[in-house]
Amino acid sequence: MNSKVEELKARFQEQMAAVQDAEGLEKLRIAFLGKKGFITDVMKSMRDMNEEERREMGKYMNEFKGEVTRQLAEEGKKLQQKIEAEKLKKDVRYDISLPCESPLGTLHPITIVQRELEEIFSSMGFAVEDFAEVVTEYDNFEAVNVPKHHPARDMQDTYYLDNGELLKTQTSAAQNFILRKYGAPCKAIFPGRCFRNEAVDASHETTFFQMEGMMVDTDISISNLIYFMKTMLSEVFQKDINVRLRPGFFPFVEPGFELDIQCPFCGGVGCATCKHGGWIELCPCGMIHPNVLEMGGIDPEKYTGFAFGLGLTRLAMMKFGISDIRYLNSGNLKALDQFRTL
Ligand code: DAH
Repeated sequence: MNSKVEELKARFQEQMAAVQDAEGLEKLRIAFLGKKGFITDVMKSMRDMNEEERREMGKYMNEFKGEVTRQLAEEGKKLQQKIEAEKLKKDVRYDISLPCESPLGTLHPITIVQRELEEIFSSMGFAVEDFAEVVTEYDNFEAVNVPKHHPARDMQDTYYLDNGELLKTQTSAAQNFILRKYGAPCKAIFPGRCFRNEAVDASHETTFFQMEGMMVDTDISISNLIYFMKTMLSEVFQKDINVRLRPGFFPFVEPGFELDIQCPFCGGVGCATCKHGGWIELCPCGMIHPNVLEMGGIDPEKYTGFAFGLGLTRLAMMKFGISDIRYLNSGNLKALDQFRTL
């Protein structure tokens, strides 16, 4: 009787050693533990044994069944681990525990300055807005008081689409949208990418960034404009900045100004950055023209406001001491990687 069990045990071990995969293991399980398996067969045959034989056989068979079940489970686990290890070998993309092989990216210098300005203006209660890069002629020109055939359009030639729309030449193109969206009072900044037909050189690019801002309320005056500009620039350069206004012409503001800052690098004595003049032209601005307010659905008799158009690209170049604007769009990692802040 024992010899029958011994033979079964030997057969099981032999077949177990030959198991290659999960399918083979399942076959082995069925062969021994299945309804018509060896162990079940022996158990059934125990009906014909006498009491003593049955007890003895039952003991052996229970032990054997327990051993078979244990070995099958153990082998199953091993096979599963093998499958997973092979899958990992083939599919390393999904192994997040592997060390990173590519270097970390960095923020672009313009993005760094833009985010800094957004934070400064948000802290002063300004909303941060966005606008399209492809705009209508109306938004880019008419709505900011530059009618068709106005000579101011000559300085802002750009890329026109077949449908008459164009790549925006100035963030001022969003002024109408912002005025209509917020009505009065309104405090918003709206950075954006601008495009112009330029002869490219160290300080001119066909693609550049500006950051426009507007504040509209009752009794807004030039002193409000100066206050916000000074506060913002002092934050950017982390020191008190002197500003001065010179008259400047822009059709959408009246009066219009060029805002200069006293050179933050030499304190106004004269250096390469300020071209030895002590002052740097940085931010055209002015009091919003009544026509612009009116086209934005705001009553110019009741409300006034200021607007400014900061050259974001220019500011980034100044802040980081970048001498050639062409680096910024070049995708040259050697150049851009120097501004790593993370
Ligand atoms: N949009 C003007 C430009 O690109 C800059 C500008 C000037 C914006 C005066 C303004 C402003 O909001 O008041 O040349």
